[in-house]
Amino acid sequence: MPSIRRFLLVSLLSTITCVLTGAAIYTYYDVTKKINSIFDAQLIEAAHVIRHTVEHSIAHHIGNLDEIFSPTQTYLPPKLWNIIYGDDLHHYDTRRVFQIWSEDGELLAKTESAPSFPLAKDSEGFTNSQMGKYTWRVYTLIDKEHHLRFQVAQRNDVRSNLVQHLALGNILPDLLIYPLTIFIIFFSIRAAFKPLKRTVTEVKNRALEHLQPINTIEVPVEVKPLIDEINLLLARLDESYAREKRFTADAAHELRTPLAALKTQAQVATNAHDKAEYQIALNKINQCVDRCARVVTQLLTLSNLRPDEPLKEVQTIDLSKLAIEIISELASDAVHKHITLSFDASNTPAITQGNATLIQVLMRNLIDNAIRYTPEQGKVNISTHVEAKQTIFCIEDTGPGVAPELYDRIFDRFYRELGNKAQGSGLGLSIVQQIVELHSATIKVSKPNQHSGLKIQVSFPNGN
Ligand SMILES: Nc1ncnc2c1ncn2[C@@H]1O[C@H](COP(=O)(O)OP(=O)(O)OP(=O)(O)O)[C@@H](O)[C@H]1O
Ligand SMILES: [Mg+2]
Repeated sequence: MPSIRRFLLVSLLSTITCVLTGAAIYTYYDVTKKINSIFDAQLIEAAHVIRHTVEHSIAHHIGNLDEIFSPTQTYLPPKLWNIIYGDDLHHYDTRRVFQIWSEDGELLAKTESAPSFPLAKDSEGFTNSQMGKYTWRVYTLIDKEHHLRFQVAQRNDVRSNLVQHLALGNILPDLLIYPLTIFIIFFSIRAAFKPLKRTVTEVKNRALEHLQPINTIEVPVEVKPLIDEINLLLARLDESYAREKRFTADAAHELRTPLAALKTQAQVATNAHDKAEYQIALNKINQCVDRCARVVTQLLTLSNLRPDEPLKEVQTIDLSKLAIEIISELASDAVHKHITLSFDASNTPAITQGNATLIQVLMRNLIDNAIRYTPEQGKVNISTHVEAKQTIFCIEDTGPGVAPELYDRIFDRFYRELGNKAQGSGLGLSIVQQIVELHSATIKVSKPNQHSGLKIQVSFPNGN
């Protein structure tokens, strides 16, 4: 499993290691280059100083070469030595030697430690030459006027020692900073992950039903969107948990009475003295079973409606076509009660966008109510029409209607008017209202203009 902490540690540490190693290599090569050019310049300078000193001696003091360099004395005359190097010799200078050669290959002078053979070939400029166990850097200067050849040399290990010394001086602070940096990075990452760890502990210690949002105050901004999404999920879970609890409680509450009645009627049927009594009990059992089935169906419909979730399976719907379907489904109930069921379809297609199944549930509940609560010989009229921005489904009946002060209450769950003899669970209009909300529609209850009864009008957004 990928770990952000490990990734950060590995990437930061490898970056720092690479940068520091690169810097160390660069420092080493840069110092080497600079030291070489400084020391080479010194060799050139030394060769020129020796040449000028010799020329000066020839011109002003002694007059000719033989007097400066005696045939037996090849060591540098002390006077010349002092002019070139001064009295105080630097410890590196002991490793610098030079020779002065005549044109015909005679060694005229040399420093004491220099060999008696030429330090390098004749050509002017720099060469490296191996003498004994050391490599020497040799600079040759040819004085054509006086027919002299000056050779100044220095051991290469002097340079490499100095390079190492200087490079180490530069790299050492980095080497000391390196473990400190690792330490700081390690603890910074640890500190950065601390709020996350706290959140994990908070979630871990929660009880199953504790679905309150996770505290986001101390959560880092980078993680906040994730926690926000989890909080939304928790809210949805809480809602569905509550819905489930409500469903169970409602089912238990609503089924208790019909089930008790069912049991009573079953006992009556068992102990029936004659067939008529037995038949009455059986009819009542039938009614109880119908009631139970209706309660269960309505409760399931209600619990499946999720107002917090967007509407699914949205399609273009013609309200007139759906109304005709439901009317034909419920027509037999109306016929049974001698109720005149009529339908006025809109001239223009009554189009809206929505979930066909849910709109059918809505229509079924409204038409069912109208038929159920309208007394025999009554009238139920259903119509659809289109207004500027709305497609309207309207249902009117000639039943007892509802008192205006109860228009809002009839949408409450389990609300049923007192003295209501018709069967029902009191959930139909509550379901209707949720479907209305899911479709961003509106519902209006009123009294029909022409007669008593109830008029319910549902206005959907126009789907054209
Ligand atoms: N057309 C109507 N005429 C008169 N009263 C009505 C009409 N429609 C609804 N009501 C009243 O509103 C109450 C709530 O209706 P609702 O449809 O929510 O529940 P229900 O019909 O009792 O039960 P069910 O859940 O089985 O539909 C009804 O009990 C009834 O008293
Ligand atoms: Mg109803």
